[in-house]
Amino acid sequence: MRPFRRDATGDDTEPVVALWRAAGLVVPWNDPYLDIERKLEVQPELFLVGEADGRIVATAMIGYDGHRGWVNYLAVDASSRGDGYGRLLMAEAERLLVERGCPKLNLQVRSTNSDVIAFYERLGYTDDRVSSLGKRLIPDLPPASPPLE
Ligand SMILES: CC(C)(COP(=O)(O)OP(=O)(O)OC[C@H]1O[C@@H](n2cnc3c(N)ncnc32)[C@H](O)[C@@H]1OP(=O)(O)O)[C@@H](O)C(=O)NCCC(=O)NCCS
Repeated sequence: MRPFRRDATGDDTEPVVALWRAAGLVVPWNDPYLDIERKLEVQPELFLVGEADGRIVATAMIGYDGHRGWVNYLAVDASSRGDGYGRLLMAEAERLLVERGCPKLNLQVRSTNSDVIAFYERLGYTDDRVSSLGKRLIPDLPPASPPLE
């Protein structure tokens, strides 16, 4: 069945987090619930889910910062991979960004997930040969408990 693409809502939180966990996208230093909460406040119309047979099978969290577009949390349920859902959501991400005048889409791939690079290359993405640096501004997790006396 062709997936139906729609904007994500708060009601989608649990199935979306389950999909991300199964897809290996949830890491200890990010709280997926907070990530969803924040996205539903900022450009929520760029947070997409793909549905098939009434089930969420794919997600893409898109953003445009006025200079570059970004895609995070691209995920397709393992049982639905290879059916074109990933390509479809990336095409929709590109369409939405172009519609907003965004000239370039950037994305980051964790070094532990280098297998996925071949997927992006199939879609026309190339290595920008840049180093990606980051700095955590708001910790999602409480600080580690102080050591016991
Ligand atoms: C990456 C992912 C989103 C791809 O989704 P998908 O729905 O299986 O991809 P599609 O079926 O749309 O594939 C599109 C094209 O890429 C190719 N492709 C898909 N996965 C591939 C892979 N791992 N390596 C090489 N090619 C791949 C397909 O053969 C297809 O080629 P074609 O249409 O030119 O014949 C999915 O594998 C996934 O959710 N992975 C785990 C989460 C993840 O790593 N997300 C990316 C974080 S940066």
